Amino acid sequence: MKILVINGPNLNMLGVREPDIYGSQSFAALENFIRASANELGHEVVLFQSNHEGEIVDTIQRAYKNFDGIVINPAAYTHTSVAILDALKAVAIPTVEVHLSDINSRDEFRKFSYVSLVAKKTICGLGFEGYKKALEWF
Ligand code: DQA
Repeated sequence: MKILVINGPNLNMLGVREPDIYGSQSFAALENFIRASANELGHEVVLFQSNHEGEIVDTIQRAYKNFDGIVINPAAYTHTSVAILDALKAVAIPTVEVHLSDINSRDEFRKFSYVSLVAKKTICGLGFEGYKKALEWF
């Protein structure tokens, strides 16, 4: 299957950013892990990262009729973005939501996810492995 993997704001800072929560591996290491997992599972993946909500919306819109699935870690936009939720609804591409950390055992404001309202599955708290589980779901 052809799968679009979207990573949201500050995930490009992995390795530097709050290593006690997100680990010490870099974003490049995460991208390598996702590519290797997709390869192993026989999926074609396109990776996209942005710190900008509108760019994420544009990328989801461009995926229409071009991808069989979306794996998304919307990062902080998880908890705020109706625009990303609406874009995912608009394209109606099956979506799996991933979070490196367990959003349910952190701050109160992280417990609500707009993307969960459309996602077929949400995987959180498994670190890099969560992305592989998401690719396996497809
Ligand atoms: C995150 C969890 C979010 O609450 C946070 O804003 C992030 C990363 C995760 O992968 O655990 O930036 O999506």
